[in-house]
Amino acid sequence: MGALLELTQLGKTYQTPAGPAVIVRDFNLRVGHGEFVCIIGHSGCGKSTVLSILMGLIDPTEGGVILAGKEVTGPGTDRGVVFQSSALLPWMTARENVLLALEEVNAHLNASERRNLADGYLKQVGLDEITESYPDALSAGMRQRVGLARAFALEPKLLLLDEPFSLLDAMTRMELQEELMRLWGKDRKTVVMVTHDVDEALLLADRIVMMTSGPAATVGEIMKVPFPRPRHRATVADHPEYYRLRDALLAFLERQTCEAPSVNECDGPPFDPYLGEPEEAKVERPPLVAEEELAVVERYTGLNRFRARFRREGAS
Ligand SMILES: Nc1ncnc2c1ncn2[C@@H]1O[C@H](COP(=O)(O)OP(=O)(O)O)[C@@H](O)[C@H]1O
Ligand SMILES: [Mg+2]
Repeated sequence: MGALLELTQLGKTYQTPAGPAVIVRDFNLRVGHGEFVCIIGHSGCGKSTVLSILMGLIDPTEGGVILAGKEVTGPGTDRGVVFQSSALLPWMTARENVLLALEEVNAHLNASERRNLADGYLKQVGLDEITESYPDALSAGMRQRVGLARAFALEPKLLLLDEPFSLLDAMTRMELQEELMRLWGKDRKTVVMVTHDVDEALLLADRIVMMTSGPAATVGEIMKVPFPRPRHRATVADHPEYYRLRDALLAFLERQTCEAPSVNECDGPPFDPYLGEPEEAKVERPPLVAEEELAVVERYTGLNRFRARFRREGAS
């Protein structure tokens, strides 16, 4: 079977006051239908940059992305996304947040059919009791569950997950990993997930793409994960290959720390293309993901009108 997703000679250079900053270069990857791929790498190497290009939130400066035979040129409902923070719209209940995604892709259904579908996805992530709750009444883990339900409810061609569990405590994180495996196991959507956790990658992925450290980060090595599915945490950790693979991942990451001294802790502060910028401009730099989270939700929900209203209300 051909690849569902092809990243070819992908590159991203930002223009900064200190000159062009090459963040990602010559990034090549093909992902098959139904494959679960994890991208792992040091913080700041460019993982979110690659994922944001796949999401269609930023354009590459070189190369391109083909999804199901079509070039990615912007965000779309063919991709479900989950970020570190759940990016739920705070003035809407859990159900309404999931419904937003459904309204866009299931326009042919009537209101009660859509509602049943939304409740069905919330039930699948164990949230049938809280469909009417607002995000601020939910725990961080519950909010990420709603985020997963929203992404799966789109029934997208591709799921893009950017460190979705990294802000959760260890127990909740393990629960959510199981939940994700279960949901994914049902119809095996193609997944590209960023993580910096080697155990998470080994538990979830069919292949692990190890990214070199930037500047000009790229695909370093690719590891096939041989554990049979369905997987269970305990049997995976007991597999005779587990520690060898885990050591190989850690060794790769360790090498990156020392081979790229300009971007890591080995040698002074991390690479910052904003170096040289005035102090006040640094302070105003928007967080990379937060704005984009809302942008992507808006794109697939047509929510700009609500947001404008919310901002007006918030301002008064
Ligand atoms: N808009 C931008 N302009 C300039 N540099 C940026 C911009 N967005 C991200 N970067 C830089 O790109 C690098 C990679 O960022 P990112 O993709 O978020 O890394 P990761 O997700 O691996 O932690 C970082 O050094 C970051 O400061
Ligand atoms: Mg990131």
